[in-house]
Amino acid sequence: MRFLITAGPTREPIDPVRYISNRSSGKMGYAIAEAALAEGHDVTLISGPVNLEAPHDANLISVSTSDEMFEAVHRHADQCNVCVLCAAVADYKPANVSSTKIKKRGANFSLELIPARDILDSLGHRQERQFVLVGFAAETDHLEENATKKLRAKNCDIIVANDVSGKNSGMESDVNEVTILFRDGEKKKISRAQKQIIARELVKIFSNFTTKMFDKKNVTIN
Ligand code: CTP
Repeated sequence: MRFLITAGPTREPIDPVRYISNRSSGKMGYAIAEAALAEGHDVTLISGPVNLEAPHDANLISVSTSDEMFEAVHRHADQCNVCVLCAAVADYKPANVSSTKIKKRGANFSLELIPARDILDSLGHRQERQFVLVGFAAETDHLEENATKKLRAKNCDIIVANDVSGKNSGMESDVNEVTILFRDGEKKKISRAQKQIIARELVKIFSNFTTKMFDKKNVTIN
């Protein structure tokens, strides 16, 4: 089976020396890539800037901005059976990028931000998509309710919800705890464990779901 996995943060430049980003470490996405490779799947890993060693045997595509990630995902999605969008893509980017370093002045400074493109949403609404689409939902409150809204709005097949409010789970941490929500309302939980262990479970769930979906459509995965 061919997996496309996105991981890590994006960086949205302000000027040649500054950017807007977030605390994503990329650990969850990289762990999913490792677990998928260990199960014998092919993996294209589209990664934002992270301090992690790339898994051997993955086809690694390194990107920086949300626009670069958007282009890379759309270039590769159709060759894959399952797309797992784990990256913490920026929601907003600066309206203008200064070509020279912005100088310090005494007064207050405001930066105009415009919405970045939503990669998951764009794949979910692509006509006649053949691949299974998995999104992640990072939530600090109303976990299942907010994640279900994202599943429907972005038209994905599965959404993996994780609580990022605590210090010891979610972003930057080595452990996580997730709730997996399916389009038909089914729900599964994986309790607190190392991201590698969670990743193994997730890969099994994604590949079983993908096999079933392709069987239903009478399509053979090659
Ligand atoms: N996502 C994306 N492109 C964006 C923003 C998010 O593809 N520009 C994807 C993420 O990779 C993830 C899912 O959308 O799979 C949900 O991301 P999340 O940050 O939880 O939610 P948002 O849609 O950004 O909504 P909010 O920040 O309001 O919770």
